[in-house]
Amino acid sequence: RLDVTETFHHISFPGHIHTQDSLNYARHFKFQDRDTVIATYPKSGTTWMQEIVTLVKNRGDPQLSKTVPNWARAPWLEQYYSAKVLGATQGPRIITTHLPYNLLASALQGSKAKVIYVTRNPKDVVVSYYHFHKMAKFLPEPNSFDEFLDSFLEGSVSYGSWFDHVKGWTRQAEVLANVLYISYEEMWLDLRGSMEKISTFLQCPLVGEELTSSMRHCSFSSMRDNAMVNYTLVPQEIMDHSKGKFMRKGKIGDWRNTFTEDQICLFDTVYSYQMQDCPQTFLWE
Ligand code: PPS
Repeated sequence: RLDVTETFHHISFPGHIHTQDSLNYARHFKFQDRDTVIATYPKSGTTWMQEIVTLVKNRGDPQLSKTVPNWARAPWLEQYYSAKVLGATQGPRIITTHLPYNLLASALQGSKAKVIYVTRNPKDVVVSYYHFHKMAKFLPEPNSFDEFLDSFLEGSVSYGSWFDHVKGWTRQAEVLANVLYISYEEMWLDLRGSMEKISTFLQCPLVGEELTSSMRHCSFSSMRDNAMVNYTLVPQEIMDHSKGKFMRKGKIGDWRNTFTEDQICLFDTVYSYQMQDCPQTFLWE
């Protein structure tokens, strides 16, 4: 496996795509007012939002989303290749990040960049993350789900604690000039309403066929079959495609098929303790 870890500010990051330099580059990044930033904890709907934003900015025309991989058109700020990609991008940029807010706080201070923060039911996140660890060779091979759940709840997994991530970003509602909070569940239950909300936020409101086309191209089935977003372009040595699919299920509430009663109990106890000081209340199923 390629699971060397890069530790940065007490958080571990997959070492094959992050370096101290790339993480420092992100920390001191100069955002432009025309940038759109997609911020997420892993497995929360990042790829989906990259696709939505690409389609919105192209008014429903799928040309770009069908020809350029997501990591090239919406690069992860903290990954080693981003300086090169972003440096070469003309015009408004779509920038993705899994970094917790505190690591980007000074870079974002005073910025008018538009930030979209996507959250997802953490029970679905942990199940999706567990399966992803099995196929992604740059992440530690997981043992049982029970063990993985413990690491997730204590925040020792890659990219750190889900709780800190969500609290950190949702506390910035007053600080960030332009921020949209949206959940995976909201997008799943009402894709049309979500796309209208997102396109209005991006000052690119979609109408008629633009909206219909965008919805069609960012559906789970369409993205599952699009090599530019389903990660089948990633070589076997990095992602073992025999161990699972990146576009795995794309459902809400699927955690029920994995969690035992004891695990639900443990999760709920940690959740209520950790989230008591979260400014936003989430009604996950
Ligand atoms: S990553 O690795 O952090 O970038 O992963 P991320 O893209 O955040 O999350 C992957 C999960 O999102 C699901 N997905 C979708 N669900 C519904 N509709 C669409 N269009 C869609 N695109 C991606 C993907 O299947 C992963 O969830 P699970 O539960 O594992 O299926």
